[in-house]
Amino acid sequence: RAIESLGDLKGKRVLVRSDFNVPLDAEKNITDDGRIQAALPTLRTLLDAGARVIITAHLGRPKGQVNPDFSLAPVAKRLGEVTGVTVTLAEDTVGPSAKAAVEAAAEGEIVLLENVRFNAAETSKDDAEREAFAAELAALADAFVSDGFGVVHRKQASVYDVAKLLPSAAGLLVVKEIESLGRAVNNPERPYTVVLGGSKVSDKLGVIANLLSKADRLIIGGGMAYTFLAAQGHEVGTSLLEKDQIETVKGYIATAKDNGVELLLPVDTVIAPEFKADAPATVVPSDAIPADQMGLDIGPQTREIFAEAIATAKTVVWNGPMGVFEFEAFSGGTRAVAKALSESSAFTVIGGGDSAAAVRVLGFDESTFSHISTGGGASLELLEGKELPGISVLEG
Ligand code: 3PG
Repeated sequence: RAIESLGDLKGKRVLVRSDFNVPLDAEKNITDDGRIQAALPTLRTLLDAGARVIITAHLGRPKGQVNPDFSLAPVAKRLGEVTGVTVTLAEDTVGPSAKAAVEAAAEGEIVLLENVRFNAAETSKDDAEREAFAAELAALADAFVSDGFGVVHRKQASVYDVAKLLPSAAGLLVVKEIESLGRAVNNPERPYTVVLGGSKVSDKLGVIANLLSKADRLIIGGGMAYTFLAAQGHEVGTSLLEKDQIETVKGYIATAKDNGVELLLPVDTVIAPEFKADAPATVVPSDAIPADQMGLDIGPQTREIFAEAIATAKTVVWNGPMGVFEFEAFSGGTRAVAKALSESSAFTVIGGGDSAAAVRVLGFDESTFSHISTGGGASLELLEGKELPGISVLEG
């Protein structure tokens, strides 16, 4: 259900769940406001309709405790700057401050409720506890718009339970994310190539297993590639390695072969003696990593092979950096993959989290990709073929 299904919103109190879980530096400055920018179309639509907008969101994992380190204050400030409207930050989520702020809010203004995870009930596994808290949230509003795509995989009070208590709709960001990721995941134009990176293979087991029956080509880079190289019998020195996953990965390699999925692994590797920005970097074949060195990026030959595989695809999904892109000396692989996607005429989707941050940090023009997701875990769960509670509750 789309926002229009909620009818005339003039003067109505609309509760919006956004994902404002943004990265902050030590001084609490927002270092990447992508998620705030992505929330604007929905907020604009509601404000233009004359709604009184009440936003609920989380920041980090404060574990049910009030903790000023996890305050949404930096988000409230940024939101005021980018929307140009008055944003009032309530000091609590459903308490006296929230109620007073909602009461005082005029049409076309925004109230941001303080970090919803300051309340233990938000993430409780106990349905009744969550439902009771969701009822308090629902009491603040006349309608609910779910627009925090990054949290729709969480069965939490402000994402899931509250949608059952108010007339509810999907926001514009959620609609766009589901359309774009859904197109790639459910109905990809072929060849369908998926590029996976990031540090841990254990974070992506379900994704790999699912893609082995869906994708035409699976490209593996980043820290997780070393467990694949180890599964092929290579020494990986002091590189990231998940020994307990080697057998599982061997199974994946065999399944890829059986299913005719082309599996591309790094053929060369940028190594260094330690994990440091200025560590001396050398390139070696991936089967010749010395015992005292660690792989920190894919090598130049691998970049060419991966770029070629991306260039010949019709659908490309990318999730996870190819190396330690935060260090200039080890950013070449991630840069090469981002460049290949940006130059491709295929339908290109970047699954959120680190790879979305990487394209921004590395200075790529975001409009050269078909879609950059704001969801980390949520986009992975879609790739995994899982049902997302925050989406199914809107359909039900
Ligand atoms: C994210 O950053 O991926 C979302 O905001 C979800 O956060 P969570 O993993 O703490 O639930």
